Amino acid sequence: MRKQIIVIGHRGAKGYQPENTMASFDYAMKLGCDFIELDVHMSSGKLFVIHDSEVDRTTNGTGNIATLSLAEIEKLDAGNGEKIPELREVLNLVSGRCGVNVELKGIGTAEPVSDLLNIAISGGADPSDYLVSSFNHKELSLVHKNFRRGILFDKLPADWADRSTGVGAWSINLAKSQISSEIIQHAQKKGFKVLAYTANSPNDIRTLIRAGVDGIFSDFPDRVVKQIHTQ
Ligand code: G3P
Ligand code: CA
Repeated sequence: MRKQIIVIGHRGAKGYQPENTMASFDYAMKLGCDFIELDVHMSSGKLFVIHDSEVDRTTNGTGNIATLSLAEIEKLDAGNGEKIPELREVLNLVSGRCGVNVELKGIGTAEPVSDLLNIAISGGADPSDYLVSSFNHKELSLVHKNFRRGILFDKLPADWADRSTGVGAWSINLAKSQISSEIIQHAQKKGFKVLAYTANSPNDIRTLIRAGVDGIFSDFPDRVVKQIHTQ
């Protein structure tokens, strides 16, 4: 039987639509993602979906999202007239059609994200439809125990297994350059899923599938779907 590989739309479908926008998430779901991935920062007591702490790269504004006023944030164009969405708006859009991987970028996001996801599960959502991840392992350890945690590494440290166990990780979310079949097998033996980011070329996607990853983040999630079906 073919191994089930989780297809994760990176910042939605970043290769096709402005990243981390409603259009991007909507398109990622149309492409057949199992999960969408997004990044969150706090500002004015709200969780905004944006990758950088500065709004400069992805919008027509400037400044740090945490210090801009709500009115200033709401005026920004995140591409093609799209606004910077709030996490609750994305959860409403998704509404069980796929899973959501929330990456905690800003400090102080673990608790409000957990609160929002707890509201979703009290409304009937499946907790396993959510994965909360972070490069900030301290912040990650504050995520509510109802939710799966993905520990992010851009370089794999020697003590990766202890760190992953320490934060109660469900998955190890690892840069593709760090992936090898040995690491995957070692991690899987310890009970962790291995999710690789960010693979866009068919060749990279094929290599990761053959190495045995459990999931792949891509700006072009349809390419992952295609490669899975041609293996
Ligand atoms: O979660 C995988 C990936 O999104 C981590 O890197 O910089 O794209 O947020 P980055
Ligand atoms: Ca991310």
